[in-house]
Amino acid sequence: RLDDLQVHRLGGRIGAHIDGVRLSGNLDDTAVARIRAAILQHKVVFFRGQDHLDDDTHIAFAERLGTLTTAHPTVNTGSERIYTLTANKGMAANSWHTDVTFVDRVPAFSVLRGVTIPPYGGNTVWANTVDAYDRLPDSLKALVENLWAVHTNAYDYADRDESVDHDDAVAVARRKEFRRTTYETKHPVVRVHPETGERALLLGHFVKQFVGLNQLESSTLFNLLQNRVTRLENTIRWTWQQGDVAIWDNRATQHYAVADFGEEPREVRRITVAGDVPVSLHG
Ligand code: SIN
Repeated sequence: RLDDLQVHRLGGRIGAHIDGVRLSGNLDDTAVARIRAAILQHKVVFFRGQDHLDDDTHIAFAERLGTLTTAHPTVNTGSERIYTLTANKGMAANSWHTDVTFVDRVPAFSVLRGVTIPPYGGNTVWANTVDAYDRLPDSLKALVENLWAVHTNAYDYADRDESVDHDDAVAVARRKEFRRTTYETKHPVVRVHPETGERALLLGHFVKQFVGLNQLESSTLFNLLQNRVTRLENTIRWTWQQGDVAIWDNRATQHYAVADFGEEPREVRRITVAGDVPVSLHG
């Protein structure tokens, strides 16, 4: 029953838990509208106990939020729609990013289902990029207002990550696959959200540099802005159980999958809903 659907805020700036709903492609329109409104407001929402979902019903539900993208632009996922993320050495999502920002049309939503959850660790953390923009001092808002960033899947951000084993053949092969086609695009650093009108910082680990700045200047400014996005007050951390579903607004968040589960298995499956070309404050 619709009356059972309840949204419980989890953090001061981001995150809500929704209960009283069984996700499916047949959900009534009002329930879907309430879920969508909760995602737009809270940026990431979580559902427990959705064990009934399989790949097909996961897809059917995600389609209620919009047109789906291909599973991944470069990785051979073995499925048209589902991107299965396992504990891949060398392909870790354990650095702050917004999904697939290296393409022109950044996905609007990601719908992630917990399939195999390790007995400890393996949390995911999300950060609110709208709040991060809102809290910038006016001087920094002025600085980023006209700034554009180059995003690419070929950038060697993972080299900065001590968890990547560069001697591991599997890790090297996976990273090579991730970059088998190079995508590079420019996005405004401040994007206007197409549904809410909010302004958000569009950054994350696919940023190679800022247009007009050299590498050193870019990384200095990138770190300054990223620190604003990822400060703990601006985040929510989710401890997964099998059958959980997380849905986030990819236009208003970054996330980080914490790689602290040793050799334990972990598998999550992601579907992305297509989004728009990000629009700057100046159109
Ligand atoms: C992702 O980056 O979409 C995956 C997040 C996760 O593995 O928790």
